[in-house]
Amino acid sequence: PVHSGGLSTFSSGSGTKRLPQAIIVGVKKGGTRALLEFLRVHPDVRAAGAEPHFFDRFYDNGLEWYRTTRNQSRHSPKEALLRLGHSPRGTRAAVHSTQGLSTSSPPKVSEKCPTQASKGEKKRAPVSERGLFADGTSKKNHLINQNGDLMPKTLEGQITMEKTPSYFVTREAPARIYSMSRSTKLIVVVRDPVTRAISDYTQTLSKKPDIPTFESLTFKNRTTGLIDTSWSAIQIGIYAKHLDNWLQFFPMKQILFVSGERLISDPAGELGRVQDFLGLKRIITDKHFYFNKTKGFPCLKKAEGSSKPHCLGKTKGRTHPNINPEVVKRLRDFYRPFNMKFYQMTGHNFGWD
Ligand code: A3P
Repeated sequence: PVHSGGLSTFSSGSGTKRLPQAIIVGVKKGGTRALLEFLRVHPDVRAAGAEPHFFDRFYDNGLEWYRTTRNQSRHSPKEALLRLGHSPRGTRAAVHSTQGLSTSSPPKVSEKCPTQASKGEKKRAPVSERGLFADGTSKKNHLINQNGDLMPKTLEGQITMEKTPSYFVTREAPARIYSMSRSTKLIVVVRDPVTRAISDYTQTLSKKPDIPTFESLTFKNRTTGLIDTSWSAIQIGIYAKHLDNWLQFFPMKQILFVSGERLISDPAGELGRVQDFLGLKRIITDKHFYFNKTKGFPCLKKAEGSSKPHCLGKTKGRTHPNINPEVVKRLRDFYRPFNMKFYQMTGHNFGWD
């Protein structure tokens, strides 16, 4: 066990479960797990281990459920849906109906919700029993405390956090988070949308090896080069459009954008910015990281609650398939104007172009 000590002591000991004051709302495959794992090293940060998916899938359960519940992935997919009175479709994130984007065709490849009943998965064990969390992270990493609670108990002055990357593309999420607390701090880890799309596809491919190629999913019409913006792997990367949605409720200064690229090349630098944003003392510094050559990524010298080095699991830092360079170029051209808009909105050039 890597994370054994700290969290379990907190969850069974003193403290109160609180609603999160800060949420990592996106983006999928941006580096959200790395950011949360690094942040939880801070003594004043306590985080939910699994992705709660409250503001997209379980909102009808209410805030008290969100604050106090035990991890919902203990329930089977069918149970979870019955409890919610939701059809699998009704629980989908709004990524396919974002304003101004094509809503006509259903997703060609959909990321399976771990609590959704789907034909192929009916006979399989719930995600929790397969030893994986929603994002494919191994439970061996002790991402959940020993009581199986969603929200950790915190002491005065500690910040409660969670991360659910699908919030960023969920139409209802900004209003819902705003109505919980208008002062919620939001963090978005963004990454070159082209690499992000390939990473997203790689994750799907690892679960469903029979899906079509990235290239064929990218286009609505290969001859005309028309890109299928209804494919979630493409649509999630149109950051400017999604951000518009958040800015209807939250001012820019309440949203921090973390560069997924810099989180890899300079984790301490990005963590410095995040700690400042959260009003935390800069405790996490370059002394906490080392570059693991085998993993090819920065890792923690000591994980939270442990004295051992800790890298993220096998599902983080996958090898991507080679994608036809012309398709990559076409995608770069497609994203460029959206990226420019995003740089303008955030006042930060992420250097993807
Ligand atoms: P790849 O697997 O495509 O390389 P998320 O946690 O949001 O799903 O993001 C996963 C991505 O986090 C990985 O995508 C990887 O590139 C990135 N990442 C950032 N820092 C990392 C780290 N220290 N270890 C492993 N992956 C990291």
